[in-house]
Amino acid sequence: MEFIHKPIMLKEILSGLSINPDGIYLDCTIGGAGHSKEIIKKLSSKGLLIGIDKDQDAINVCKERLKDYKNVILVKSDFKNIENVLNDLKIESLDGVLIDLGVSSYQLDNKERGFSFRFDAKLDMRMDQSQQLSAYEVVNSYSLQHLTRIIKEYGEEEYASSIAKNIVKNRPIKTTKELALIIEKSMPTKVVYTRNGAHKKTFQAIRIEVNKELDFLFETINFLITKLKSGGKMAILTFHSLEDRIVKNVFKINATDCLCPPKTPICICGHKKTINLVNKKPIIASEEEQKENPRSTSAKLRIIEKI
Ligand SMILES: C[S@@+](CC[C@H](N)C(=O)[O-])C[C@H]1O[C@@H](n2cnc3c(N)ncnc32)[C@H](O)[C@@H]1O
Repeated sequence: MEFIHKPIMLKEILSGLSINPDGIYLDCTIGGAGHSKEIIKKLSSKGLLIGIDKDQDAINVCKERLKDYKNVILVKSDFKNIENVLNDLKIESLDGVLIDLGVSSYQLDNKERGFSFRFDAKLDMRMDQSQQLSAYEVVNSYSLQHLTRIIKEYGEEEYASSIAKNIVKNRPIKTTKELALIIEKSMPTKVVYTRNGAHKKTFQAIRIEVNKELDFLFETINFLITKLKSGGKMAILTFHSLEDRIVKNVFKINATDCLCPPKTPICICGHKKTINLVNKKPIIASEEEQKENPRSTSAKLRIIEKI
């Protein structure tokens, strides 16, 4: 299957990163190189692009798409391991970082990958196909309490408890369609027909659990801020409120001078801000882009600059 993924807010990201042609840029989620291909076009032969992804399919397609460029290094890795990746490459500092979170259209639209309720496929949802945990294990082996918590927290699903109960009652559940049907039966019919995608929230929750999407996000961003050169930029695209909350929080902490509790007469924490927020409110896709690419409608872009 062809790797198709339209880069979201490409213009806004390129302008936000204000690429230094001789700089070192890190794309933590390179996917189909939609953004990276445009970043590398702006680099001189002294510049370098490091692209990482935990999906081997993404790395393979980027090798092909970026084959004409010498100044690119592709690494199959989870970005939670970024410190080791940079140490191995002997990279001490970065001019820019891009993180485009979540799944690619290729992963969602590829039936074999078992991410979507639109196709009937074996429950899978692993971004990294070499990892053990898949959606099948989550759905078929987690306890009722654990499933309820995941669906409630990661899916913000009000029918979490009834969905989890029905999942447990109907095990084993082997395919995406079987799971979708059980979710539908766990909520009032009116909701199934009025909600845009009755299964969306539960599928999102299971996907986040399988890929541990929120587990190391704060620490990774915090670490990468320390690696940015003065004047270096970081752009992060999120697709749901749970991700955005983490990004907003880590940026806010790093953009604040004192973190003492309010009303503390004098600062005792000594915390000094290391970044400036380029945009106080998240940037959203233009109406035109939203019309042309519905996947951009939930996207939020936050950009910072290292002091
Ligand atoms: C939205 S896509 C990126 C698309 C890319 N910007 C483009 O325009 O082609 C997200 C990619 O990030 C990867 N990914 C998500 N979480 C990751 C993580 N923790 N570590 C490494 N890659 C990750 C996914 O496998 C997917 O390929």
